[in-house]
Amino acid sequence: MSKIIAVANQKGGVGKTTTSVNLAASLAVAEYKTLLVDIDPQANSSSGVGVDVSEAPLTIYEVLIDRRPASEGVQPTMLPFLEIIASHINLVGAEIELIDTPQREFVLKQALGELRDRYDYIVIDCPPSLGLLTLNSLTASDSVLIPVQCEYYALEGLGKLLNTINIVRQHLNPQLDIEGVLLTMYDTRLRLSKQVAEEVRNYFGDKVFDTIISRNVRLSEAPSFGKPVILYDALSVGTQNYIDLAQEITQGKDAFRRSRAESRPPQTVDTTEDTEQ
Ligand SMILES: Nc1ncnc2c1ncn2[C@@H]1O[C@H](COP(=O)(O)OP(=O)(O)OP(=O)(O)O)[C@@H](O)[C@H]1O
Ligand SMILES: [Mg+2]
Repeated sequence: MSKIIAVANQKGGVGKTTTSVNLAASLAVAEYKTLLVDIDPQANSSSGVGVDVSEAPLTIYEVLIDRRPASEGVQPTMLPFLEIIASHINLVGAEIELIDTPQREFVLKQALGELRDRYDYIVIDCPPSLGLLTLNSLTASDSVLIPVQCEYYALEGLGKLLNTINIVRQHLNPQLDIEGVLLTMYDTRLRLSKQVAEEVRNYFGDKVFDTIISRNVRLSEAPSFGKPVILYDALSVGTQNYIDLAQEITQGKDAFRRSRAESRPPQTVDTTEDTEQ
C-alpha cells in the first residue's frame, strides 16, 4: 500500500514544485516505486521531469474532468522507479468545471484508488491556492508536506492553511496527517534565514523536518533542462538536501536522527578535562 503525500501551501513560489520533483526523484533513486501527480495548471512538475505537456497522451485534466482512468495518464520519466501523471494548462478551468460534480472533493481520491497498490509513494504537487484542486489533493492524501520559504512573512497564511487542513480532517479525510514543515531556500549567509527557521520551529515544534533545503542555484537551473537536480548535478547541495529529506520521510524522524548521529565523524575527546561532574 502506498503513502500519498500532498505538497501544499497556498503561497506562491515557496518551493512546492521543486520539492515535489526532487523528493519524488530521491525516493525513486532509493528504489521506492514513486508516482508524481501534477495537479497544478502551471504544469511545472511535468516539464521539470522532462515531459512535453503538448505531447502528453492524457493528463490529470482528462482524469478529473472526463473521468478517464488514471492509469492511462501515467507516463515514464528518465528514472526507472519514477512515473508521472502530467498536468495541462486546461486545468485552470477545472475548479469551475467540477462545481456540479457530485462528491467533487473526492474525484482525485477515486481516480488514484486503482493506482495505489502499484506504488510505494505518490507525491502530489498542488497549485498555489486553497481551491478545489488542493482540497481534492488533501482529501486523497495520507499526509501533507508544507514547504515554507525562509523569507519575510514566512508564517503569513499558514494559519489559514492549518485551518483548511482541520476542516478537511473534520469533513473529508479524518486520516490526514502533517508529514512535516520543510524550510526551503535557506541561505546560511543571511541572519534572516536563521530567524525565520527559529520562528517556524517555535510555531510548529517537532513537526518541522530536521532536513533544511538550502538556497542552491542548481535546484533552480535543473528544471530548464527538464531534469530533477539529481540527474543535473548529482553532487550539488540541493541533491544532498533532497536525498536527506527522502531518508527522513522513509526512515521516520527518530531513526533518521540516530543514523545521522552514527554517521557523524567521532569527536576528538579532550582528556585534559574531567567532564564527569
Ligand atoms: N532551494 C532552492 N534554491 C534556489 N532556488 C529555488 C529553491 N527552491 C525553489 N527555487 C526556485 O524558486 C522558484 C519557486 O520555486 P517553486 O516553483 O518550486 O515554487 P512553488 O511553490 O511550486 O511555486 P508556485 O506557487 O508558483 O507553484 C523557482 O524558480 C525555483 O527554481
Ligand atoms: Mg509550483
